[in-house]
Amino acid sequence: MNTNRLSPTLEKALSDQMNKEILASHTFLSYGIWADDKGYQGIANFLYRHSQEERNHSIKFMEYVLNRGGKPKVDAIPAPPKDPESLTECFDGVFKHEVDNTTSIYQIVDMSLAEKDWATWNFMQWFVQEQIEEETLASNLIDKLKIAGGDRATDESLFTLDKTLQEAPDDAPLAQEATGANP
Ligand code: FEO
Repeated sequence: MNTNRLSPTLEKALSDQMNKEILASHTFLSYGIWADDKGYQGIANFLYRHSQEERNHSIKFMEYVLNRGGKPKVDAIPAPPKDPESLTECFDGVFKHEVDNTTSIYQIVDMSLAEKDWATWNFMQWFVQEQIEEETLASNLIDKLKIAGGDRATDESLFTLDKTLQEAPDDAPLAQEATGANP
């Protein structure tokens, strides 16, 4: 008896997304190594933690496809992008990667809606929320670097930025959780 409750199209899309999350993990790992090598250990640590989070996302997709009776396929992962030339390029790269990933997540939401696959639609809502958080986190990185002086930041302000990111929480606060007293 066929127990697969995913359409072949959605099974493939979810499996492809599992692989994209692994690519995101490799990309942030590679950026982290670049930052570490440049002496920004706090920024590297932030990127390593983010890399691990992307791997966890990949496992969520793997587990979901298996739970629905499908079989995800681990593909060859493309090489991560080349090393950035500057912190600005690094943080812009993180932001762009997140925005591209959101597009990919929305495509699966669209597909599940078209197929009326409510289980997958419901599963994907976690990722819709997660992407809001991740885009906010990435855009905060860009803002923090701008405040520090961008590519012309002094060593002292970069030292402070590095230290801040070492200790930064991995999750951005969500608008849904804001109140008047705690905006
Ligand atoms: Fe798994 Fe950053 O999205």
